[in-house]
Amino acid sequence: MADDFKSTLCVVFVGLSAIIAANRVAARPQRGDFELAAGAICNCSSTGGDDGSFDEGNRARYSDEEIETDSDFTIDKESRGFSLTDLVESMFSAVASGIGSIVTSIIGTEKNFRSRSSRVSYKNHQLIRLYPNSQEHVNDLKELEKSESEDVKFWTEPMYNRTTDVVIGPDLVSDLKAFLRYKGIDFKVLIPDLQKTIAHQNPKMTKEQRDDLVTTNGHSMTWKRYHRYGEIVKYLEYLALRYPNIAEVITLGHSYEGQPIKMIKISTGTNKDGEAKPAIWIDAGIHAREWIGSAVATYIVSQLVEKNSSYAKLLDNTDWMILPVVNPDGYEFSHTGDRLWRKTRSNHADDEDDSRFLQLVNRYTRWLWGKCEGVDPNRNFDYHWGEVEEGGASLDPCHETYAGPRAFSEPETKAMADYILANKQNIRVYLTLHSYSQMWLVPWGYTDTKPSDYSELASVAKKAIGAVTKIHGTDYQVGPSADLLYPTSGASDDWAKGVAGIKYAYTVELRDRGRYGFLLPASQIVPTAREIWAGIKTIARLVICNT
Ligand SMILES: *[C@@H]1O[C@H](CO)[C@@H](O)[C@H](O)[C@H]1NC(C)=O
Ligand SMILES: *[C@@H]1O[C@H](CO)[C@@H](O)[C@H](O)[C@H]1NC(C)=O
Ligand SMILES: *[C@@H]1O[C@H](CO)[C@@H](O)[C@H](O)[C@H]1NC(C)=O
Ligand SMILES: [Zn+2]
Repeated sequence: MADDFKSTLCVVFVGLSAIIAANRVAARPQRGDFELAAGAICNCSSTGGDDGSFDEGNRARYSDEEIETDSDFTIDKESRGFSLTDLVESMFSAVASGIGSIVTSIIGTEKNFRSRSSRVSYKNHQLIRLYPNSQEHVNDLKELEKSESEDVKFWTEPMYNRTTDVVIGPDLVSDLKAFLRYKGIDFKVLIPDLQKTIAHQNPKMTKEQRDDLVTTNGHSMTWKRYHRYGEIVKYLEYLALRYPNIAEVITLGHSYEGQPIKMIKISTGTNKDGEAKPAIWIDAGIHAREWIGSAVATYIVSQLVEKNSSYAKLLDNTDWMILPVVNPDGYEFSHTGDRLWRKTRSNHADDEDDSRFLQLVNRYTRWLWGKCEGVDPNRNFDYHWGEVEEGGASLDPCHETYAGPRAFSEPETKAMADYILANKQNIRVYLTLHSYSQMWLVPWGYTDTKPSDYSELASVAKKAIGAVTKIHGTDYQVGPSADLLYPTSGASDDWAKGVAGIKYAYTVELRDRGRYGFLLPASQIVPTAREIWAGIKTIARLVICNT
């Protein structure tokens, strides 16, 4: 009986998904062609700036107690008046929750209806590296990926001649291994229990230790652990207060849950003709779980501001616009709810452009699966939005790469894009920090075709990774996104180049190559940041002229 019931649910779900998908497809925007701003690599003399050794003082002593971040940010919730549709909705909800308890009593709640109020546990989930060595193997893995099981999560796409990292739930581990052996696909267990790695990734800090740091340093950032969004914002605000002549905090907008999206602009002022200087844009934390990016971004901020005298020339020639956490809701949720959360936290069931019926359907499917919040912000930018579906961007709200109901549906991507557009005439370099795989990616992502200036972009990137490797010997690969990763549409670097006309647009996939993947230990923050900073300084030197 339970099985019958489950298959009925499946049929219902497939039907509803098709309706939703059809509705999404209709909302696609049109293509547009854009002129790319011309620009040349110039021969500047050294921009100077020693990577002065990082201040290792005030070493925090960590204990087991995790600090609670102050909840400075209030959540705006619209209050809504009474209406007939609201009444219908609440009746529907009542019916739905009634069905819910019936379903729960028949097939159980734990596995399929994960509660979102508590932390998701990855106890006994394994990270497994697969070595497909034929197109047939790749096809088998793609089929597996298409099953979209809760217990099989692909961290990298299956590609010929490339390894694929997959997280497997405890119930499926032995079946999957049997399947792989049967198919002749080699594999290796990288992490035998994800939850243990999660528990050890980030050293704990007590409230007292944090308060001590604030007393001594004025802020609690350490680069020895990953910090909460509130601490990152406080650090930016501390810098603006302490270094008002070079640092300014700008609120770009608010996230879906109402958190302020704050960036820092580091500038010594206009050039001698009174004009704004050329600028380098760096963002991170588009994907919630990729903590290393935000840590590297704040490290770069600390270098430029707190060690400004070491970077006099770099600051003389260039403005820096740095947005460490594009997606604060997701970032916080990856700290408090699900360490492996990727998307934003929005809920588009109430969108104006969906019919009331579809809203109810959406709500029902969300209730059924309990996990369909959020949009992949890096599929949500308005350039060839929603075009590439195969693995690269999804129109299914439950999917990890859901592109959103329309381009810029997310207040986070919209806020960032508006600021970039308003300043595009000054921004010469667009860098977005992601993880993992150690790649310096060149547009385009949406097509295999390369931009006409591809060789210039690749040549600058190769010099950058040369500088990266010099620091700790870490190898990076340079290449077009669509080749090295997989085709994706609606990514921010494509948009920066295609729409904002920023010639040098790159996505940087930071450490590592999958030993820890998204769970990179905090001890690797400083080495990762030091090498990437060397690469970025090289780009600044190559792209921005003295004159
Ligand atoms: C930069 O300098 C190199 C050698 O010093 C030269 O070959 C190259 O043409 C120069 N590029 C530009 C744009 O001036
Ligand atoms: C597969 O990888 C090997 C080693 O990295 C390389 O030598 C070979 O050319 C690759 N084959 C294809 C078809 O890409
Ligand atoms: C540069 O840093 C030094 C040392 O931290 C500080 O005293 C100085 O005020 C900073 N310069 C500016 C323009 O803020
Ligand atoms: Zn990412």
